[in-house]
This record gives sequence, structure tokens and C-alpha cells, in this order.
Amino acid sequence: MNTEILKIVGDVTADSAGLRRAANIIKRGGLVVFPTETVYGLGADATNAEAADKIYSAKGRPADNPLIIHVARPEDAEPYAVLGDMYYRLAEAFMPGPLTVILTARDTVPSKTRGGLPTVAVRCPSSKIARELISLSGVPIAAPSANLSGSPSPTSARHVIDDMMGRVDMIIDGGDADIGVESTIVRINPDDTLTLLRPGKITPSELSALGAKVDISDAVLDKLPEGQVAESPGMKYRHYAPKAPVVLLDGDLEKIVKYIINDEKAGHNKAALCYTEDMEELSHRLPEVYLFDLGSRSDALERAHRLFGSLREADKHSFDIIYAPLPEKCGVDLALYNRMIRAAAHKIIKL
Ligand code: TXA
Ligand code: MG
Repeated sequence: MNTEILKIVGDVTADSAGLRRAANIIKRGGLVVFPTETVYGLGADATNAEAADKIYSAKGRPADNPLIIHVARPEDAEPYAVLGDMYYRLAEAFMPGPLTVILTARDTVPSKTRGGLPTVAVRCPSSKIARELISLSGVPIAAPSANLSGSPSPTSARHVIDDMMGRVDMIIDGGDADIGVESTIVRINPDDTLTLLRPGKITPSELSALGAKVDISDAVLDKLPEGQVAESPGMKYRHYAPKAPVVLLDGDLEKIVKYIINDEKAGHNKAALCYTEDMEELSHRLPEVYLFDLGSRSDALERAHRLFGSLREADKHSFDIIYAPLPEKCGVDLALYNRMIRAAAHKIIKL
């Protein structure tokens, strides 16, 4: 397939001819990769089952893993999902923005788009390019992250081109994604409590500040026991995993250094993700280890922004092992914790 790359710099309306071309591809049932404020999305007409099917093939995604439908305004989800009071409270506080809400679906959403579930995931992104594309298309756009299934979500056009060239009709290059981790996903339960299914930039305490009770799904922090059904199907799949094994180290810097030096069975070609504040000391104490600067210890947003790019970069080298500090389980760090335990296939070493 021939893939057109449309680069949009600056004002979105300045390239409306290109965006109209993109919208026509969506209307005809084709695939367009577009930027959002979280990560790039691989989009198709959410109301067209054949178009949704093409998303699964382009990504190599299992058919039971449902897609998020993206709308230009929160109320535009009305024909596709049952929107109650809690949805509008969440919308008022966080939309447009990096929040996805799980709602009861209407049958206007093909079963293919929802991975066969009775519910549907709705998100109204804040990215202007994304919203303009959805408006011009006149339909909600179903879009998972635009990576090949199993590799880290793409946060730059370069990542998308590496994964999707020749697999989609168009790639819209809108520069680096602002946030760099995927949206926070919450389910609204029948009693209007919320269940956090995937942590992101919007944190549990920001959600509770709305007055809602928020609980955290088991699969956010732990490995699901064998046989348990995942509340969000995506959580049961291996994710974000670089080719080299990742090991999370839970301890202070001193213990981490000793562990890495003494870990002889790991092979010689070692890498470590580290906090900016530790880079200089580690470069002296671990001269043989390839160091990635994850960002500042005190700036979880910066680290979220860099994580997927670092994991992709790590894949270009053939490391025997990649060490990383275990993130905390609060605030935006919870999103990093959730992504990193998956990258590490839950291998955490308590030091
Ligand atoms: O930031 C984002 O959310 C990005 C951008 C492109 O919008 N999208 C994204 O989509 O991360 P994806 O498909 O990579 O992740 C969506 C997750 C999957 O784990 C899927 O299982 C879950 O949402 N999901 C979708 N529909 C669901 C539903 N009805 N019930 C529970 N989980 C659902
Ligand atoms: Mg994804």
C-alpha cells in the first residue's frame, strides 16, 4: 500500500486541504494515522466494521481487544453510547483531554469496533489536528495506538513511520506527542462509582476530586491470576516490551549500583534507564553500562514523555538486559509503574 505522509506544522487550518484528503480516506473506509496529545492513533471510521477490521490487520491486534472511539466534542458520543450525568461531569472537568470513559454501547457501534463487548470506550482528544480530522470526517474515529501490536506506543512521526509505513493510507505528522503515555481509562459503574482501568496523566486523586469514588482495577498494579477475565482486554496482553529483558530494581541508588555490578549472569551488554540526577554518578560507577536519561526524579511528566522513545531506542541496540528503577505508585508515576511492569513482564527485584 502506498502511504502518503502529510506534515502539519503550526496552525491546523493552514493545511485544511490535506486534512480534507485525510477525512475523505476515513469516509471511504481507509486508515489514517493521526497525532493526539497522548500518543499517535491508527484511525478508521468507527461505524464501519470493515474499516475497523483493517485496523486489527494493520496492527496485528487480537480481535477481542476493543478500540477507543474518538469524538470532536463530548456530546458527539450520544448516538453511540449511553451518556449519563457522571459522563458529563467527567467531560466538564477533563474533556477535551487525555481521558477515556467506558460506557454502555448503542448498537450503532459495530461489534467489531468494541471487540464483541456490550460497552464502548469514548475519548475526546484535545489535539487540534485530531479534532479537526474527526469533524471533517463526520463520524467518530476508532483508533488504537499506532504501533505494531506488542511494541511501545508511538510518540513521534518517526516511530509511526517505523511501524506503519506501507500498512496505512496516510500518516499525519504533527510533531512530538505532548504527553507521551496513553489516556487514563475509567469505567463508570451502574452506581456512578469509577473504576480506573489504565492510569495516565489524569490521576486517581484528580478523578476523586470530582466527588466520585474511584477504585483501581487489580490489573493496573499486578499480574492477573491465571484464568481471571481482564476488565480491560488490553491488560492481558504482553505490552511495551523491548527485545531485551527489562528488570525493575526496587531500592536506593547504592543498592542498584551494587546489583548491576554483581549481576554476572546477565551478559555483558547492559543498559539502564536512570534519573537525570543520577546520570553523572552512574556514568563513573558503571562505565560499561549504556545509560538512558529517563528525566528528572521530580518530574513524572517528563519521564512519561520520554519512556516509550527510550524503549524504542533500546531496541536498536542488542542489549542483553535493561535495568530500570521501579516507579512509585502514585500520581503520574502510577502510569509509569503500570507501563514499566508490563515492559518488564512483571520482573521486579526487591533490593
Ligand atoms: O491515548 C490513548 O488512549 C490512545 C490514543 C490514540 O487515543 N489510544 C490507545 O488505544 O491507547 P489502545 O487501543 O492502544 O488502548 C485502548 C485500551 C485497550 O487496552 C483496550 O483493551 C481498552 O482500551 N478498551 C477499549 N474498549 C474497552 C471497553 N469497552 N472496555 C474495557 N476496555 C476497553
Ligand atoms: Mg495500545
